[in-house]
Amino acid sequence: MAEARTAKGKIRQGQKESVRPLIPAARIQKRIRAMAKEIRRDFPEERLHLVSVLKGGVFFLTDLARSIPGEVSFDFIAVASYGQNTHSSGQVRLTRDLDSSIEGRTVVVVEDILDTGMTLQYLLRLFQQRKPKHLRVAVLLDKPERRIAAVRADYVGFTIPNEFVVGYGLDYSERYRNLPYVGILKLGSGAKPQK
Ligand code: IMP
Ligand code: MG
Repeated sequence: MAEARTAKGKIRQGQKESVRPLIPAARIQKRIRAMAKEIRRDFPEERLHLVSVLKGGVFFLTDLARSIPGEVSFDFIAVASYGQNTHSSGQVRLTRDLDSSIEGRTVVVVEDILDTGMTLQYLLRLFQQRKPKHLRVAVLLDKPERRIAAVRADYVGFTIPNEFVVGYGLDYSERYRNLPYVGILKLGSGAKPQK
């Protein structure tokens, strides 16, 4: 359907869905630069190995990596959820493993959003078994109200309310990932979007 921009900058797909801007692109970039400095300050001498979760974490990874001074390498992993409502039932499985070993490395897991925490709990357990030197977590967004698993991030970009958000890597049925900002998705029907 034709996409039109309203006076307030919302994107409308026909009259069906709309995205209400929540975090402007410039604020995201500024925050990521600060997070990059913070991470480097915590590990001044080490090579940082960034591990991003496909696909949502990719934009965050590339911007973060470019802002961290010194030696940085990165790798990717992908996970999927079983059946419906899987994040809340906690069934996460690996669909693409890392290319290289993380043993002895200073690893930073780079995720788009920490929601129930089931994905991160799964990944942290998996990575811990592989004996990294350090294991840290950086998330762009944190929705603490939705947390089920007892996990926390070491570096958080923004804490957001319990709303379904899209943009800057986050999708709704694979759409909206390319928005440079983060916005709240509203469905035309008034129903709540599900991930
Ligand atoms: P968790 O396992 O519930 O913490 O979910 C993490 C994953 O769910 C994220 O990496 C996203 O892919 C997805 N997700 C959670 N909340 C949202 C949202 O508001 N919009 C889009 N995707 C989301
Ligand atoms: Mg994701």
